[in-house]
Amino acid sequence: NGGGNTATPGLSFNSIAGSSADAVSIPDGYRMQALIPWGTPITGSFPAYAGDGTNTAAEQAQQIGANHDGMTFFPLPEGSGSSTRGLLVINHEYTNPTLFAGDGRATDMNGAPTDADEVRKDINAHGVSVVEIAQGTDRNWGVIQGGFNRRITAATPMMLSGPAAGSEFMVTAYDNSGMTTRGTVNNCGRGFTPWGTYLTCEENIQGYFITTEANPPREKARYGLTDTGFGYLWSNVAGDPTEVNGEFARFDTTPSGPEAASDYRNEANTFGWLVEIDPFNPAAAPVKRTAMGRFRHEGAEPGRIVDGRPIAFYMGDDARGEYIYKFVTAEAWDPTQPNPNMLDNGTLYVARLSADGSGEWLTLDYDNNPALANDFTSQADVLVNTRTAADVLGATPMDRPEWSTTDPNTGEIYFTLTNNTNRGPDDTDAANPRGPNTHGHVIRLAENDDNPAATGFVWDIFVFGSNANADPSFNISGLTLDNEFGGPDGLWFDRRGVLWVQTDNGAPLDSDTNDQMLAVVPAQLAGDRTVNPDTQASLKRFFVGPVGCEVTGVEMTPDYRTMFVNIQHPGGNWPDGGSARPRSATVVISREDDGEIAL
Ligand code: FEO
Ligand code: CA
Ligand code: CA
Ligand code: CA
Repeated sequence: NGGGNTATPGLSFNSIAGSSADAVSIPDGYRMQALIPWGTPITGSFPAYAGDGTNTAAEQAQQIGANHDGMTFFPLPEGSGSSTRGLLVINHEYTNPTLFAGDGRATDMNGAPTDADEVRKDINAHGVSVVEIAQGTDRNWGVIQGGFNRRITAATPMMLSGPAAGSEFMVTAYDNSGMTTRGTVNNCGRGFTPWGTYLTCEENIQGYFITTEANPPREKARYGLTDTGFGYLWSNVAGDPTEVNGEFARFDTTPSGPEAASDYRNEANTFGWLVEIDPFNPAAAPVKRTAMGRFRHEGAEPGRIVDGRPIAFYMGDDARGEYIYKFVTAEAWDPTQPNPNMLDNGTLYVARLSADGSGEWLTLDYDNNPALANDFTSQADVLVNTRTAADVLGATPMDRPEWSTTDPNTGEIYFTLTNNTNRGPDDTDAANPRGPNTHGHVIRLAENDDNPAATGFVWDIFVFGSNANADPSFNISGLTLDNEFGGPDGLWFDRRGVLWVQTDNGAPLDSDTNDQMLAVVPAQLAGDRTVNPDTQASLKRFFVGPVGCEVTGVEMTPDYRTMFVNIQHPGGNWPDGGSARPRSATVVISREDDGEIAL
C-alpha cells in the first residue's frame, strides 16, 4: 500500500507496427499461445468442440462460452500467489447467432434461432467460465479437468441482495419474494474484491429483454428496452412446458395479466447489476449486489485498498452521455475478518466534473439526500432507477465510460471514455471536449486527501485517442503511427504500475490497424496534472489482434511472466486458420527468455 511516486523503469520493448493481418502481433522476443477458445470442454463429460456448429445446448453448457471479455486470474491453491496454476474467470459477453448455426439449424430471417435447443445453446454460451489452468514443463498452459471448473450461464439461479432485493420491483412469477432470479447476460467488464471474489458486469441488458408496452415504466424506458432488443427474441420460442414457467417467455417483459407476481414485467429489473462470484466455491450461487446500482455496468475495479479504510469501487455506465459512479463500502476493510457481504452496505455516488478540474461525488442515498425525495419512494426505487436518480442530481454526461483502473503507485483512478459520435461541436465541456468524439479519451481522477470516501476529487485528461494524421486540434496528444489508437475500452494497471490500454475501435486509423493493446508507465510523470507530451511519447503498442476482433480483458500472473489477453469476435478464421469458424480465445503471452513482461 502507498508505494509513492518512486521512479519506475521504462518499457523495455519497442512499439510494434499496426497490422491488418488475421493474426496476433507481439514484440520481438515474445511468444504466444491461443488458449481456451469458445467451445473448449471444461466440465461434465467434456464434450469436444464441433467446428460445424453442431454442439448441442447441453454440450455448450460444459464448454467455454462465446465472446471472451473481462477476466481475472486467481492463483491456486487459494492465496498461494502461484504463477503456474490458477483459476481463470472469464466473461462471455454475447453470442453471434450465425456462428452458432449447425447444419439444418432452424432460424428466422435475422438468423435468430426458432428451435428451443438452439435458444438454450445461446443462453448457455453467455455468462462466465471458471476454468483451472496450469503451465506445463514446455511452458505452454493447458486446461486442468478439476473440481473448480464451472459454467455460469444466462439461466443459472442467482441471489439478489442489498436494498433492492425483495422489493416490489423484483417480484416475478419465478420468485414472488423478489429474492432470486435466473442468469446473467452481456457480461462485459469486470472487477474483483480483496476477499478473493470476482465481479461480473451486466452491460447491455436491453439487447435481451423486450417490451411491447406503449408507455413502458422508467425502469425500462430509461434503460432502452424496445420491442426487438438485439434481435435474439428468445421469447418468440416456446420453452419447456414442464419446467418452471417462463423459461423463454421471461425475456418479454410486457405485462400479461393484472399482477407482477404472475408475469415477467419485472424480469429486466433483476438485470443490470454487478454479480459477485466466488470462484473457489463452485456450489455457491452468484449474488447480484443491488447496492452498487443498476445501469449498463462496465468495469468495477476497487481503488487502492488500505487496511482500516472503506473500499471504493469505480464503475462506468457505457452509453453515450451516461455517468461515472463509485460505491463506498460502509465498513472499513479488515483483512483478518473479511465480510463476504461487504458489498451490501455502502453509499453509491455519481460524478459531476467541473471545468476548473475539480469534481464532486453526488450521493445516491434516498435517506440522506433530500433532492431524491420528489422522484423516488425508497432506496430500492433509487437503485432500480439509478440512471434517473443521477439525472435528477445533475451528474456530468460522459463520452461512454467503460473500464476503470487504479494506479497502484499514486492511487489515481483512470477511466476509458470510448467515444461519443453523438456529441455535437457546441455540446462539449472540459471533461468531454471534442464533438463528435470519434476516437475517445482516457480521464483520471484523484480523490481529495487520497480518501476513498471523499466527496470531492480533482481530474484531468490523460490521453486523447486519434489517428496520427488528424489535425492537431483533434490529435491533441500528438499520437504517431506507432501509437495512434481509437476506442479505448479495456484498461488495467498491473501491480508494478504499467497501464495497459485495449481498444474496441469504430474509428479509422492511418495505419489501418486491427484492434490493439498499448502500454505506458504514468508513474514516470506522477505529480504532473497537465497533458504532458512525454506521456504520449512513452505510450507504446504491444499487441495487435487478428482481423475484425476487439481486444478486451487483460491479466498477469503474480510474477509478471505470463500475460493473458482476450480476443473477442474475431472476424476471419483465427485461431484455427484455414476456413474454420472464428472463435474468441485467450492469448497467453510470455517472454522467450522467461523474463518479466514489458519492463
Ligand atoms: Fe461491452 Fe462497453 O463494452
Ligand atoms: Ca467493453
Ligand atoms: Ca466497447
Ligand atoms: Ca464487445
